Amino acid sequence: MTLLSVRGLTKRFDGLTANSEISLDVEEGSLFAVIGPNGAGKTTFFNMVSGFLPSTAGSITFAGTDITTMRQDKIAAMGLIRTFQLVQMFQNMTVAENVEVGFHLKTRGGVGAALVRPPWLRRQEEDIRVKARELLDFVGLGAQADMDAGLLPYGQQRLLEVARAMAAGPRLLLLDEPAAGLNAHETDALADVIQHINGRGITVLLIEHDVGLVTRIAHRIAVLDFGCKIAEGTPDEIKKHPDVIAAYLGTETENA
Ligand SMILES: Nc1ncnc2c1ncn2[C@@H]1O[C@H](COP(=O)(O)OP(=O)(O)O)[C@@H](O)[C@H]1O
Ligand SMILES: [Mg+2]
Repeated sequence: MTLLSVRGLTKRFDGLTANSEISLDVEEGSLFAVIGPNGAGKTTFFNMVSGFLPSTAGSITFAGTDITTMRQDKIAAMGLIRTFQLVQMFQNMTVAENVEVGFHLKTRGGVGAALVRPPWLRRQEEDIRVKARELLDFVGLGAQADMDAGLLPYGQQRLLEVARAMAAGPRLLLLDEPAAGLNAHETDALADVIQHINGRGITVLLIEHDVGLVTRIAHRIAVLDFGCKIAEGTPDEIKKHPDVIAAYLGTETENA
């Protein structure tokens, strides 16, 4: 079944066409990657799909619902959850608290319940603490749970972002360059985590600059260049594609 279907998606910023009639289908349960050089339009594509930026033209269908003009909080509530290219977390909270925030966004309660603290709320909070620990173990940050998030090395901050996104209960997880700034060892650890997430049945749409990572773990890859989709296929097909090789050779010196 197709979980995400994008048709003719276009974004113009003044004179610049950042996305030009992009169409693609992401199968439920798959690990789909969007790659392309810096400035190709990858983040713009994510911003439209996740409702952070209105499109100029085209349509986006998620789980059979047209979400083209839907607000981003409604889209997230449907299970389409994203991370950001730059780390966005609460520096002055602990690692565990950062993940707990992800759970709290979708639980009942609110300010009134927080003041009175009825038994069901205390049970819910305990439940969230346990689940947050499980997610931290899952991404390999169990030992750092009580550290201030701001003190985590950069590579671990990226893993924390993934754990927090998982707390929101994604059906489709959009990861925007999660490996940017990571060393080879950290990238391998992240690749494992992404594969385990996908192994849990969560569909993953991954933006990456690093072709090596993507060809190792993705089932299917779309390539953007100057706002256009220039290729789509399996990792083997993409590695051999002359337009892809040309697009990357032209930008070899750029880095994320
Ligand atoms: N809010 C914006 N206003 C104007 N131009 C933008 C905006 N966001 C992105 N762009 C431009 O759109 C193009 C694609 O950017 P982006 O989607 O961030 O690429 P990528 O994520 O592939 O590096 C770039 O030329 C960028 O400068
Ligand atoms: Mg980007």
